[in-house]
Amino acid sequence: MNILVIGRGGREHAIARQFNESDAVDTVYAAPGNDGMRKDAELVAIDEMDFAALADFAEVKAIDFTFVGPEQPLSEGIVDFFEERGLRIFGPSKAAAQIEASKSFAKELMNDYNIPTAGYATFTDLAEALAYIRKHGAPLVIKADGLAAGKGVVVAMTDAEAEAAATDMLESNRFAEAGSMIVVEEFLEGEEFSFMSFVWDGVIHPMVISQDHKRAYDDDEGPNTGGMGAYSPVPHIPDTVVAETYETVVKPAVSAMAQEGAPFNGILYTGVIWTAAGPKVIEFNARFGDPETQVVLPRMTTDFARFMQSLFEGQPLPLQWSDEAVVGVVVAAEGYPGTVAHGALVPEIPLQGGAGITYAGVKEQGGALTAAGGRVLLVSARGPSIEEAQVNAYRQLAACEWPGFFYRKDIGWRAISKKV
Ligand code: AMP
Ligand code: GLY
Repeated sequence: MNILVIGRGGREHAIARQFNESDAVDTVYAAPGNDGMRKDAELVAIDEMDFAALADFAEVKAIDFTFVGPEQPLSEGIVDFFEERGLRIFGPSKAAAQIEASKSFAKELMNDYNIPTAGYATFTDLAEALAYIRKHGAPLVIKADGLAAGKGVVVAMTDAEAEAAATDMLESNRFAEAGSMIVVEEFLEGEEFSFMSFVWDGVIHPMVISQDHKRAYDDDEGPNTGGMGAYSPVPHIPDTVVAETYETVVKPAVSAMAQEGAPFNGILYTGVIWTAAGPKVIEFNARFGDPETQVVLPRMTTDFARFMQSLFEGQPLPLQWSDEAVVGVVVAAEGYPGTVAHGALVPEIPLQGGAGITYAGVKEQGGALTAAGGRVLLVSARGPSIEEAQVNAYRQLAACEWPGFFYRKDIGWRAISKKV
């Protein structure tokens, strides 16, 4: 098989590597990929949004299937474009990608099909939003309706913060078009987890769950980021809660999309909070999570490329997972999620004991990798438990100095301090 992976982050590196490990695979191409991925994929200098050039490439190279990493090409219709050209691609159509690209679409869907989620209201008018905030009172969560790279959510613990966030989005156009409509949501309390599933032809293949760390700094302090680390499994979320989420959220969401005339194919990512009243949805994404993918895929023991092929051929192989724990720690450039300086030399980590690195914001300069983005790389390590995987991950990081970079020192803490 020849496979084309679209995207350039750590998630796409993990996807490419997992495909490359299959003996059924000849070449994995990544468009555009990043310089840290060269061992696992052949880079193709085509932008994620240049659908015509990507489809031409897939045709010329006889690509067996294309796998889309990020949300932007999905929400702009890359899948529709490839399918019109008769090319095999994995991901949702533009219509189905709305489940991520429009929070109000997702909220209405959940409302109409009784999928448990936080209570909410949508606004385009600031005065109405402010009146609602004053009436309901903090804590409230303010969300830009459109795509905002994981940064369009403000968890407001006071009315003043909620009002400022709404004003920022609706009046100061903080997120441009993506923030011209906002969702104001009830604050949910509980443990979070990420539940991703392969969906194809109405059939759902759930993956093992994971937990992200959204805040920039230790103890979950600082601003929200794209994610600073993750781990899998999540031992303090009981299997019964995962099963309940599958029955009350994932299954009804997939059938709701089909009933709405926008059947969902691809990776359905469900962000869940396990509240006192049961699991509730905080968001749907239409693609793999980053950094969740980097800790979930290493646990997949089914051959990934063969699994994908079996989906396309309508004879899905069973998905199997190792019992091992995986902890992944993101190394970011200083200043992330704000502005970051480029160019710091990325240390070469002498990896030991089954640890791995996925690269994201890096660029090769004079034969060495240098920082070229916010999240630069992720170190993942395995172990028989989260504790051991965590020790192993931090041992790799401690082998180098990190001038110009930072990473959280507590990835996995909820699993270790909260046991059931
Ligand atoms: P999102 O970008 O939608 O994943 O939201 C970012 C983070 O905000 C989530 O990971 C949660 O920690 C938090 N969050 C989002 N919605 C809610 C909610 N309704 N209640 C509490 N926390 C939330
Ligand atoms: N880690 C959360 C996301 O990918 O949206």
